[in-house]
Amino acid sequence: MEMLNSKFFTIKTHIEGAPQESMFEIKTQTLPPLGPNDVLVKCLYVSIDPYQINRMKSQSSSQNSVAAASKITPGMTITCGGLGRVVASNHPDYQKNDIVHGIINWAEYTIVKTENMLRKLDTLEFPLSYHVGILGTSGFTAFGGFFKICKPKKEDKVFVSAAAGSVGNLVGQYAKLFGCFVVGCAGTKQKVELLKEKLGFDDAFNYKEERDLKSTLQRYFPHGIDIYFDNVGGEMLEAAVANMNAFGRIAACGVISDYTNSGKHTALSMVDVIYKRIMIQGFLLTDFSINDYNDFMSKTMDYIRARKLCVLEDISCGIESSPSAFVGLFRGDNVGKKIVQIAKE
Ligand SMILES: NC(=O)c1ccc[n+]([C@@H]2O[C@H](COP(=O)([O-])OP(=O)(O)OC[C@H]3O[C@@H](n4cnc5c(N)ncnc54)[C@H](OP(=O)(O)O)[C@@H]3O)[C@@H](O)[C@H]2O)c1
Repeated sequence: MEMLNSKFFTIKTHIEGAPQESMFEIKTQTLPPLGPNDVLVKCLYVSIDPYQINRMKSQSSSQNSVAAASKITPGMTITCGGLGRVVASNHPDYQKNDIVHGIINWAEYTIVKTENMLRKLDTLEFPLSYHVGILGTSGFTAFGGFFKICKPKKEDKVFVSAAAGSVGNLVGQYAKLFGCFVVGCAGTKQKVELLKEKLGFDDAFNYKEERDLKSTLQRYFPHGIDIYFDNVGGEMLEAAVANMNAFGRIAACGVISDYTNSGKHTALSMVDVIYKRIMIQGFLLTDFSINDYNDFMSKTMDYIRARKLCVLEDISCGIESSPSAFVGLFRGDNVGKKIVQIAKE
């Protein structure tokens, strides 16, 4: 194979606070020859995810959790979930032109050392980008987090934060389809309208316009909250705990309000947690089983076919847009799943 150049992004230095576009730089590398079992993938879609900020810090406990969340040092390629087309393969399971998803890079091309990193797409029934969002890790996080961690019952009263985001919008939609009462919060008027008008949430509010989150939640949940799906942590988690019912369940999915502000710590009322017997469980999507995954895929594909789930995607075009797409997550720029399309299919 002829020599191939590939543009890729890296960080200039470790990022400790809020990320800015100027903290990233684009570089070009000449790809080395493929080793035994290597697969060369042309990147088509990459997933833009908040957790990556924890990988970019000089130190974070998340970096020791799973391989996919390991530390990124300046100069290194940034690995991420994504989807691409096989250009060349030394692995017997992958052929040229196969569409694959798994761990690739913020780059034009990725050489994948295939151990557990890649899967061939099972179906071409849906737009390819769906496999980075609703049928990818965001969808599985929402499905597993809601059904396995929150253990819902019909008519449970459910609160979701970052509800117009990638995971949050799906949690709310699954909860509605299951028969729960659902309220979401988001950071703009337009997102709040979307949740109520298009996604079928029972109600929604703009948390940035509220002064006292405890009384806000009391207003939206006069009979208390049974399930809180927490994407943000901080004051919202404190306010939710104050409004939880006895034996309420909180799925601690993400703490985006802490990611860029490590000095900030959530001050939970542990007296509430104990006397109301609240279960708070952190989880990672890697905790769920292959049976959970198959259940998630079959139910979610059926819902999409029946148009019962609305697919919210927010796609930027071109590798150059990756830093602004990422930085935008922390400003609430995205509506639904943030994806960068690196190349046309
Ligand atoms: N446990 C797991 O396995 C797992 C897997 C995937 C994701 N996650 C976590 O789940 C959460 C959601 O991820 P996602 O991919 O779906 O991202 P996302 O919700 O699509 O994007 C992040 C959203 O968070 C909101 N936000 C940003 N800064 C905030 C702040 N300081 N306070 C409150 N809200 C803020 C913004 O919306 P607004 O306009 O509403 O502010 C933004 O659009 C993240 O915390 C992520 O780390 C966990």
